[in-house]
Formats: sequence, structure tokens, C-alpha cells
Amino acid sequence: MAQRQRPGALSALDPSATETAALLAAAGGLVEAVMTARRDGDVLGRPRGDELAQQLLQARPPADPTPVDEALATVAAVLATGDDNAAPGELGYIPGSGLVASAVADLIAGVANRYTGLSAFTPAAVALEQGVLAWLTELFGLPGTAQGLLLSGGSAANLTAVVAARDAHAPGAVGRACLYVGQHAHGSVRKAARIAGFTDEHVRVCTSADGLRLDPEAVRIAIKQDRADGLLPVAVIGAAGTTNTGAIDPLPELAELARDDGVWFHVDAAYGGFFQLTDRGRQLLSGIERADSITLDPHKSLFLPFGTGAVLVRDRAYLAASFAEEADYLRDAEEELPALPDFGSLGPELTRQWRGLRLWLPLLLHGTDAFAAALDRALDLARWAARELAEDDHVEVVSTPELSILTFRVPGDDAAQDRALDRIHADGHVRLSSTVLDGRVVLRLAVLSHRTTPDTLARAVSAIRAAARLAAATAPAANGARSS
Ligand SMILES: Cc1ncc(COP(=O)(O)O)c(C=O)c1O
Repeated sequence: MAQRQRPGALSALDPSATETAALLAAAGGLVEAVMTARRDGDVLGRPRGDELAQQLLQARPPADPTPVDEALATVAAVLATGDDNAAPGELGYIPGSGLVASAVADLIAGVANRYTGLSAFTPAAVALEQGVLAWLTELFGLPGTAQGLLLSGGSAANLTAVVAARDAHAPGAVGRACLYVGQHAHGSVRKAARIAGFTDEHVRVCTSADGLRLDPEAVRIAIKQDRADGLLPVAVIGAAGTTNTGAIDPLPELAELARDDGVWFHVDAAYGGFFQLTDRGRQLLSGIERADSITLDPHKSLFLPFGTGAVLVRDRAYLAASFAEEADYLRDAEEELPALPDFGSLGPELTRQWRGLRLWLPLLLHGTDAFAAALDRALDLARWAARELAEDDHVEVVSTPELSILTFRVPGDDAAQDRALDRIHADGHVRLSSTVLDGRVVLRLAVLSHRTTPDTLARAVSAIRAAARLAAATAPAANGARSS
């Protein structure tokens, strides 16, 4: 900004109304350019920007103001490099989208900078957030005692839940505490366990015969053995959509065993949770309403910009017990629910951004049906892709989409899968990813972005087919994917 101290102004750090308008107009131009480029844009293919990265590593903030255009030109230059993981063709990992309405909400929340760690200062802002959280707890069929908390992402949500479960079932005895997870539990679950003080060997992996899901019987046996050995079973952690294949653990059976065996039932629904907005998703996620806690990730299946996870806990007293700063608060939590929560006393953060607004504004502006329709489309597109690929003699579909992820192989060994992935990525329009299942590299296609259209997916499928044909032609003594 060009100004220094202005007469009548409090600080040179606060732009005048005219300067604010100019700054917003310049930023708006950049936002519009990003959106336009992305509409039919590629995920890959931009330069990595190594030279720019070197310059930026050396750059230090100047003592004097920089003109807006010059500063934003640097941002534009950064955005001209690297992968656009919010483009329509992002089908790798767990796609993120980034809703404009949510980004605008962030701008407003940042400027307003209301303090929402405690409810007393700005009750209506806290109430706005609490209203969205109540919508979430109702959406997942949790009772009136439930409480949600918005955090930075799924990892923070899993950590918060694991800490609450630990304190509920092994207070002061984490050295003997055990967790029960599936082989495909997300890495953030193991990370949460470690941060919360569980030893690695006390995180029991209990996988079913198909290798994809958590096996309730195996969990029962492990819990029994652990109790006999004087250990403390704390929680069974199911996935409502694993990151690798999107498989849903048997939630009703896990809920049953958690009740019978007196352990906490956490569901990591970071990827799959918001399919609950669709009829098919609700059926698939049945049993989730019996969870003691649920991890959601609005920056995944609700298309928000990165930086929003959520944990829902069936009984808010457990959050208060683990996270309240003052012991006195525990007394309140056991009494009648206060009208407004102190978010700072229900999770690891005290001062926090007003996250509720970034969730509330897009839900209000678009309506929940628009989100349900986008998620329904993701379910349809993944099923369509799986059918198309299953009909191709050169593609072995390894796992069909329970939600919106499928895995497959092309003819040849693991190295052939990596080569096929490079070929699929050659024109930059779509990105898939790979993982390892049962000791074999598989290619993986995940549909989640609201921007992914049937056209995008048709391009992905034809790129996969072409890569599979080439793999079949070059694989030694391989006539098809199934022979590898
Ligand atoms: C199932 C699952 N749980 C947890 C996480 C971690 O979420 P975040 O990356 O938002 O911390 C992920 C991320 O992909 C996930 O897929």
C-alpha cells in the first residue's frame, strides 16, 4: 500500500475505504482469474516453479510498502506453477475443491476477527457456528447431548476424539491403553494415538479376511485377550470410507461390540462422512449414529477450502472433561447444557478463527440439496467408471466403489502400474494416484470434487484404457491385467 501515516487514521496498517475497495478489486480479479482458468483447466502440466521457489526462499518482507499490483503479481506467479488439486480432473488422493462462498466467508471472518474461543464475547457468532454444528449432529442422528467442534482438519478431529476416548476409558493409565483399528485406518489415527501417549504396539490392527475392512470378531478376540493381560481396551476406530479403497467398516457390528465390550466407538468419516446427505450414503453409513465420536472433514466431502475438520462427540461432557481449562467447568458440563458452548474448553485450541462462517455461508447460499446432488453425482460417476473399466479386457478392477473410490491394475508388474500412471497423467488434465493393496501396487481413482463432470471422467477412463492397452502390448508374456 502506498500510504504511511494518514491524518485521522489510527494506523498505516488500516487502509482507507478507497484503498480497501482497490485491494478487494485487485484480489477479486485474481480470484476470478483462478476460477476461469480452472473451469476447464488441467491438474498437472504447469511448471514446478523451481526458480521462483528459490527467489521466494531468499525474499524477505520489505521495510517499505509494496504496491498492491506488484504483491499480487507474485501471488499470480506462484499460482501459475504447481498442481491445481482443485481442478475438475483431480481424481487422486482425496480430492479437495475449495468453495468460493467459503473463501469469501473467511475474508469476512478475518476482517471481523471476532473471538469465538469463549461464547461470552460474541454470542451470536458462536450461536451461528453452534447452529451449523447442531445441523451436523442431527444429520448423523446423534442425541441432544452431542456437541460438534470445528478444527483444522481430519487429523485434528481424530486426535481430539482419541484424547476424549483415552480419558474416558484409561484415565491416567495410557501406558496400558489399547486401540483397535483396521489395516487401512488413516495414518492420522496412528499419529493421534502416538500423540495421545499410546504405544505403537497397543494400536491393534484387526483386519477382515477381505483385507479391506475392520473385523469385529478379531476385535472381540483382541479385546478379550488384552483384558486378560491386564491392559485397558479404550476404543475401536472404524472408517466410514478408508482412504485406500473407500471401504466402509461394518459400523453396526462395531457399534454392537463397543457397547458389549464397554469401549469407545469412534468413526473416522473424514472422507465418506458427507455422503450421509444422500439416500445411498445414508444407507451405506448406517450404524454411524451409534458412534461415541465421528470425524468429519468438510474440506473433503463438503468441498470447503482446506482448513476445516469437525469432530462430533455423542456426549459433550467427555470433551469438557478432556479439554476444559478449569476444573470448575466439569461441574457445569455435567449439569444442564448451557445454551452456548465455549469452544476453547471443548478442544485443543483456545483462540481460533471463526470457522463456523466458512461452513455456514456456502450452506446458506447454495442450500443443502446442492451438496447432496454433487455427492450423488460423485457416487454415480465412480460407479460408471468402474463399469467401463470392468468391461475392458486389459483392466483388472481390484475394488469397486462402495462410495466413490475404485482401484484397478493394468497388465504387468508394479513398475508397469507406475508407468501407466505416468501415461494417464501425460496430458495433465486428470490426476489419479496409486497405493498398495495386498502387497501389489494398484492405481486408484477417487471422485469427490463437485467440479468433476461426466466429461472429465470420460477423459480419465479413455486415458486409462489407452495406458492399459499399451501395458498389455509391452508386458512380457501378459495377455491381460489378470495374468500379472
Ligand atoms: C479417512 C481419513 N481420515 C483422516 C484424514 C486426515 O484428514 P486431514 O488431512 O484433513 O488432516 C484423511 C485425509 O485424507 C482421511 O482420508
